Amino acid sequence: MNGVIFDLDGVLVSTDELHYQAWVRLADELGIVGFTKKDNERQRGVSRMESLEVLLEKSDRQYTPEEKTELAERKNSYFKESLNSLTPDDLLPGVLDSLKMLKERGIRTAVGSASKNASYILERIGIEPLLDEVASGLDVTKSKPDPEIFLVAARKLNLPPEECLVVEDAAAGIEAAKRGGMLSLAVGPLYETIGGTFCARDLSRVTDWDTILSR
Ligand code: BG6
Ligand code: MG
Repeated sequence: MNGVIFDLDGVLVSTDELHYQAWVRLADELGIVGFTKKDNERQRGVSRMESLEVLLEKSDRQYTPEEKTELAERKNSYFKESLNSLTPDDLLPGVLDSLKMLKERGIRTAVGSASKNASYILERIGIEPLLDEVASGLDVTKSKPDPEIFLVAARKLNLPPEECLVVEDAAAGIEAAKRGGMLSLAVGPLYETIGGTFCARDLSRVTDWDTILSR
């Protein structure tokens, strides 16, 4: 393995929870009841508009495409509001040590995130200098589980997909890695169930990087 592609929300930083809270706020405003963490699991890794569709499954009324655009923008404004208080303290356990260790070993690293806010988030948490490349929601037209985002990231790293490991917290992301011909490491609350090649609760719990990187 010569490269590692990290998803962002829920892998490097705890913004997965902020996405959820922004959707809950929108749900409350729309009078949508019964939108739960379980529904939110299906929003992990997928685009803003697709995440909105997951929320609207719980709504009694139909929305026009124009209304949906407004709802997605509204949710994004709530999410961005919450990003104003994001700091390096919001990095998830083991992130800094893992990025430094990979750099020391000469492994190239990238972010592969569906988020159009990825650059802003990376700036706020201050880890840009530890990453070689960033591929974000602004670089792709297809959402995970399509492998496009990871293939773009691998291309930016100048590496063939099979030399890249994907680190993901979302079922859609693990599937995207598979379709892109990449091995994966599953982390986060669903780490045991989303089918990664390897899995660990978070990056601080990865004990055997040697085995993973030798694949
Ligand atoms: C992913 C999140 O990283 O980014 C999804 O897991 C989110 O929940 C997606 O919908 C798009 O993010 P944004 O910031 O462009 O709305
Ligand atoms: Mg994620």
